[in-house]
Amino acid sequence: MANIVVVGAQWGDEGKGKIVDMLTENADVIARYQGGHNAGHTVVIKNKKYVLHLIPSGILHRGKTCIIGNGVVIDPGALLEEIRGLRHRGIPVGRNLFISESAHVIMPYHIAIENKSEQARGLKKIGTTGRGIGPAYVDKMARSGIRMIDLMDSRVFKAKVKANLSEVNYLLERRYRAEKINPGKVYSKYMKYAEALIPFIADTGVLINKFMDKGKDVLFEGAQGTLLDVDHGTYPFVTSSSASVGGVCTGLGVAPTKIDGVLAVVKAYTTRVGGGPFPTELKDKLGKLLRLRGGEYGATTGRPRRCGWLDAVGLRHAIRINGFSGIALTKLDVLDELEKIKVCVAYRYEDPYKLCSCSRKGRACNFTDIPHNNRVLEGCKPLYKELSGWKRSTRGIRRLRDLPKQARAYVDYIEDLLNIRVDVISTGAKRDEVIVLRNPMKGKKRYR
Ligand code: GDP
Ligand code: IMO
Ligand code: MG
Repeated sequence: MANIVVVGAQWGDEGKGKIVDMLTENADVIARYQGGHNAGHTVVIKNKKYVLHLIPSGILHRGKTCIIGNGVVIDPGALLEEIRGLRHRGIPVGRNLFISESAHVIMPYHIAIENKSEQARGLKKIGTTGRGIGPAYVDKMARSGIRMIDLMDSRVFKAKVKANLSEVNYLLERRYRAEKINPGKVYSKYMKYAEALIPFIADTGVLINKFMDKGKDVLFEGAQGTLLDVDHGTYPFVTSSSASVGGVCTGLGVAPTKIDGVLAVVKAYTTRVGGGPFPTELKDKLGKLLRLRGGEYGATTGRPRRCGWLDAVGLRHAIRINGFSGIALTKLDVLDELEKIKVCVAYRYEDPYKLCSCSRKGRACNFTDIPHNNRVLEGCKPLYKELSGWKRSTRGIRRLRDLPKQARAYVDYIEDLLNIRVDVISTGAKRDEVIVLRNPMKGKKRYR
């Protein structure tokens, strides 16, 4: 058995929730290491759909321990609502959930500031989920953030709220001409949240390492995706956390030597919600068809997701950063009706502005790695390899040999192009609609 990280390899919504749910059977502990309730992880069990935002998807299995690590930012109101929602549906949440005392708290002023700053950006807005994620991480880095542990000490909490609001209210009033936020009201509301959340708060860094020392198997659940990572994504159109594998170490206090494998979740095509460059985006009726067949609407905000072809340039970048040991290819069934399927193998860039840093400056060049200059990336045109569709239903197929030969050829092509093994193929939203070629949780532990 092994400690495995599940990471989104694209711009999020790859189907991480479904894959984590599937792997949880062989895990003891499931831990989130970054992000917040901007995430929406869907799990479908029989005909029941669950959407998890902050709580690890493993909570749906009885007898598993779930951890929300220090790298996560927590909106206590949203977390309590999620706990209530799960309990209401018969899912126990109690001694099976631990929340890091060092995780930062999302405050009402984070949401207010985000709202105003997005408005001020106008057409250049990021298209955030509006959950206060970015400003909460800003405060963390500025060392003025409030942590879960502060909720346990009312005097400290009160003083921090007061100090932070004296600055934020200045900004809200003077810069944005918006209403001030009353510290007393925030204090009373959050003290009620504290009462309900204190039983879950723990030193999760010590806890998770104790579990690992005892030989327990940990599944690390990434939120968002590598191309939304604040360092490695398509900045500034990213989220504010470390969504790729490095986030596990900082966001949970786990050493890299404890990680046995990293599974990439790759959707069989590409989607993106919010703003930012997306070279393989299909703005035509094919894009609409993918949205319709894939049900591509945000699990958190309900926004329609932008859809396009699979992009090997983005995936190569994700493979390099995360050192993936294998791929879980999801939503293959969404492509069932297509006559032809395209995969972007490189970007073509004509360089009239002489922006490109390569030796062909001023002329046309091909990129096989993502360029980091946004004007360049926005000007890139995808170069495609075209493959035949299979025009048959693959929904619910559970054995590789039952896949149509063109579908197998698509999977083989991805493996060859990216030089990485496909371990899992998902053929539907439901828990058992999956082909497991190799279960990463059943691999060997390298270190204790
Ligand atoms: P996450 O954020 O990565 O967990 O992904 P989301 O839950 O936001 O979006 C994935 C969507 O695709 C959800 O509605 C899932 O139920 C659904 N889904 C996952 N795997 C498959 C699959 O193989 N086929 C189909 N048709 N739907 C899937
Ligand atoms: P899961 O875990 C897809 C996107 C937002 C926006 C950008 C910044 O379900 O894959 P933020 O609110 O984080 O500051 O928004 O990131 N975004 C996601 N897109 N899936 C997600 O999570 C996302 N979480 C944030 O749409 O473009
Ligand atoms: Mg999602």
